Amino acid sequence: MKKIKLYPWAELEQRVPVQAVVEGTDLMIIRYGEEVSVLYGRCLHRGVLLANGVIVGKKVVCNWHGWEFRYDTGESGQRCPALKKFKAWIEEGYLWVDADEVVSWSEQNPEPYQV
Ligand code: FES
Repeated sequence: MKKIKLYPWAELEQRVPVQAVVEGTDLMIIRYGEEVSVLYGRCLHRGVLLANGVIVGKKVVCNWHGWEFRYDTGESGQRCPALKKFKAWIEEGYLWVDADEVVSWSEQNPEPYQV
């Protein structure tokens, strides 16, 4: 496992999407309470960065055409698969992910759009 330090935990604001990139893959971080989601960061409709979206209830809403994804699970109300949710944990005051998991998933799920 290749651990990557993503963000200082104390600096993550509640329910504010944050953009991150790991090994060339766009991710979105959302903290909610003492939990956090690290999700694939591009909209499954046309590839826009979801960290630019808005939070409505328990969903992040894409700022282009309004597709919605639950930020705790990545599930969508649309007829599409859920956003990938990556393993993430807090250690030494930072949020971490397994870069090997991100790279492996990205190789199997190349982004068709780059907006
Ligand atoms: S690109 Fe996100 S809803 Fe169309």
